[in-house]
Amino acid sequence: MDPEKIVAQELMFWQVALYIHTYVLKDDIQTDDYSDDDEVAGFSLWTLPSKNFRGIWESLILEQDLKNHLARYCLAALLFSKMDVDSNLVSCNRLILLHGPPGTGKTSLCKGLSQKMAIQLQDEYARALLFEVHTQALFSKFFSESAKLVGKTFSRIKSCAADKATLVFVLIDEVESLTSSREAALSGSEPSDAVRVVNAVLTQVDALRRFPNIFMMTTSNMTGAIDAAFVDRADIKQFIGPPPKPARRSILSSAVKELARAQIVDTFCPEKEAQELDRLAEVTDGFSGRLLRKLPFLTFSKLASTYDKQPLPSSEFLSEMVGVAGTERIVRGELASAEEKLRDNRGR
Ligand SMILES: Nc1ncnc2c1ncn2[C@@H]1O[C@H](COP(=O)(O)OP(=O)(O)OP(=O)(O)O)[C@@H](O)[C@H]1O
Ligand SMILES: [Mg+2]
Repeated sequence: MDPEKIVAQELMFWQVALYIHTYVLKDDIQTDDYSDDDEVAGFSLWTLPSKNFRGIWESLILEQDLKNHLARYCLAALLFSKMDVDSNLVSCNRLILLHGPPGTGKTSLCKGLSQKMAIQLQDEYARALLFEVHTQALFSKFFSESAKLVGKTFSRIKSCAADKATLVFVLIDEVESLTSSREAALSGSEPSDAVRVVNAVLTQVDALRRFPNIFMMTTSNMTGAIDAAFVDRADIKQFIGPPPKPARRSILSSAVKELARAQIVDTFCPEKEAQELDRLAEVTDGFSGRLLRKLPFLTFSKLASTYDKQPLPSSEFLSEMVGVAGTERIVRGELASAEEKLRDNRGR
């Protein structure tokens, strides 16, 4: 039964199958120790389920069924590889691509997905890891050194995945930086070493696909800039857009609820504030999840001078938030037109 539909209707106990997972959250994170300086790390490595990702999955409010759709896909893909389904006959790459505008929850969704899967599959895999590959870092050094960093990053991933009892998630964020570098390299505006580095990454990604216990997640906010061959490899190409109105309302309501829990605002009852929440959801049309989650903080900083260690009245706080959202909308509009002007000037 789809958990999102459970809210809408009452179910009898015999209509549901209840699975209870108990687990301990881990606290360790490692970065790669191959780089010569402290600034550049090829990856971060998290042991799952991680304390750092607690609540991420639940906090994301996306279009209905999107999270379940991804979770179901991930389980199916891992089942196919576990059952040794011949990939020449049934193609399944265990690679997803989430794309969309900035701040819409793509990276969080990948982290939340790996956490959720690690918990659900803990009977099948003794250990679960998440490698977050720092694509920008791989290209930020001199290319000759980058090639070394790429090689070492991916061989560490492979050595972990060599143990079949380990479930390995690999997150490659902002994947467009990888492929746009290749294009720039091929067009001759980058040193020839760059071609080797980018090709090395793509070859490594291909090599990882051969491990049945590796699941790859990639994100981008410029799908157009991604190498077509790479896009083609992804089993799921999911657009993640700005949250629709009901999602915006839930995000804002959960954020104010948190402020009430922290006693920054007084008791908050979403039913009582329904009208103001509707108004807020209305005026924040087009806002990303990131901006929506920031709005209560921006509002508080505006009201900070009136805060005297006593919770602020939640209704007043909400009306102030409507004003702050309006200001953000104007600032965003101005920024967009400034960017447009800049583009026009460059085009001339
Ligand atoms: N739909 C959403 N529901 C709840 N929170 C959201 C949503 N979208 C974004 N957020 C919050 O916004 C913040 C930024 O999200 P995240 O970094 O995952 O976005 P992103 O799409 O990866 O952005 P970018 O493209 O800039 O890398 C996170 O704290 C996340 O919880
Ligand atoms: Mg991101």
